[in-house]
Amino acid sequence: MRFFVDTAEVSEIRSLAEAGLVDGVTTNPSLIAKSGRKMAEVIAEICALTPGPVSAEVTATEYDDMLAEGRYLREIAPNVAVKVPLTEAGLRTCRALSAEGTLVNVTLCFSPAQALLAAKAGATFISPFVGRLDDIATDGMQLIADILKIYRNYPHIKTEVLVASIRHPIHLVEAAKLGAEVATLPPAVIRQLLKHPLTDSGLAAFLADWRKTGQSIL
Ligand code: E4P
Repeated sequence: MRFFVDTAEVSEIRSLAEAGLVDGVTTNPSLIAKSGRKMAEVIAEICALTPGPVSAEVTATEYDDMLAEGRYLREIAPNVAVKVPLTEAGLRTCRALSAEGTLVNVTLCFSPAQALLAAKAGATFISPFVGRLDDIATDGMQLIADILKIYRNYPHIKTEVLVASIRHPIHLVEAAKLGAEVATLPPAVIRQLLKHPLTDSGLAAFLADWRKTGQSIL
């Protein structure tokens, strides 16, 4: 399973990349706004930190403008994946950009039918939002299971399921058990994945015993 980082904070991406935990990055207009930086500048910096896909989202809502924004964004770096919303104009843009060889991430997916349409439009990635469904008392992980089942029924579909809106480690583990190709995780969730109380207490006990030996390795 590939891990994308869901942030526009360059320092976070850099430190996670140094630990080998970044296979790509996803951003959205809210994350860019939170960074307080110019979008083109921050996307260029992120693209230099990882060879993996870096999602940069269009903000136009009409087809012609979306396509123009997508073509602009893909010029920032070869690893830009243009992110488009799951609307009719978004799917049309997806189809046009995919035909031009551009990576496209179709975002804001909340139903299996929407995911099927994105695949038909040639999406590289479909981003179903599990956390936001859970927030409205709907089983987000069931959506992932349904999309994977549908895509596997049609082996010609090459669209990868990019599990988004992940809020905690259990979302990730469940998505991995289902075999989703990619998950995008906020940096805080990636750090939560590392933690286990038995790791902490086990390490403390090893180090206490080691100190008693009076030795040092170097
Ligand atoms: C995905 O590409 C989105 O940026 C993200 O996962 C949305 O997550 P949220 O629902 O926590 O905002």
